[in-house]
Amino acid sequence: MFFHVNGIRLAYDDHGTGVPLVFLHAFPLNRSMWAPQVAALSQQFRTIAIDLRGHGESDAPLWSFSLDQYADDVSALLDHLAIPQAVLVGLSMGGYVSLAFSKKYGHRLRALILADTRAQADSAEGRTGRYHLAQTAYTKGATAVAETMLSKLLGTTSLQHKSELVAYVRETIHQAPVSGILVDLMAMADRPDSLAHLRTITCPTLVVIGQEDFTTPLADAELMAREIPGARLAVIPAAGHVSNREQPEVFNDLLRGFVEGLPNTPGA
Ligand code: MLT
Repeated sequence: MFFHVNGIRLAYDDHGTGVPLVFLHAFPLNRSMWAPQVAALSQQFRTIAIDLRGHGESDAPLWSFSLDQYADDVSALLDHLAIPQAVLVGLSMGGYVSLAFSKKYGHRLRALILADTRAQADSAEGRTGRYHLAQTAYTKGATAVAETMLSKLLGTTSLQHKSELVAYVRETIHQAPVSGILVDLMAMADRPDSLAHLRTITCPTLVVIGQEDFTTPLADAELMAREIPGARLAVIPAAGHVSNREQPEVFNDLLRGFVEGLPNTPGA
């Protein structure tokens, strides 16, 4: 399905009924990365997965956007679907967008799941890395980006034993529009530090991390779980950065248990 916001067309899927869970994908993937969650959890909850601008079937204008704009898009999607409050599930860049959303639209958060992400801004070195990757995308295309990103996205266990998942991630990046990759990289490089914000988050929060995630490592997840009042931390063994795809059943059980435990969850 599609909706329009600020002259841009964005794609999303909406399945099931009950507590709305809105899934925000990683860079440079798209909403298809949530397929195992949608399949399992839409039996019990309403699952909504969006292609952030620049990804999947959404428009990918070459323009300058901050991650706040992505958060505005998510809020516009909730308006479009007449959903006052939702549980946001953001993985990596999706987590950065979730934090931006929580600053601006905290009243719309029923709960927050921050998976394989971090609250700190990029280091100077991290920013330089983004500009180099942007240059690679511009000169060599998305296929070259895929080769750089694969070992950052998947853990050792998946790289060695899950060839279908490796193929899925590689193919998804191959299809990513270069304009979307460039815009994401600039927006992520510019994102502010959110550490001080963590203490102001008031909704129930679950922090999830793959044990083999070296892109946003365990220490970053522990820091978020420590700083967000009442947050829980869950570590998924044999998973890297895309933990929802690397150990989908474990990830789904964590989400299910967390959402069922929310106060006044119908059907839980
Ligand atoms: C992602 O998975 O969204 C990216 O690895 C995040 C990042 O590059 O910081």
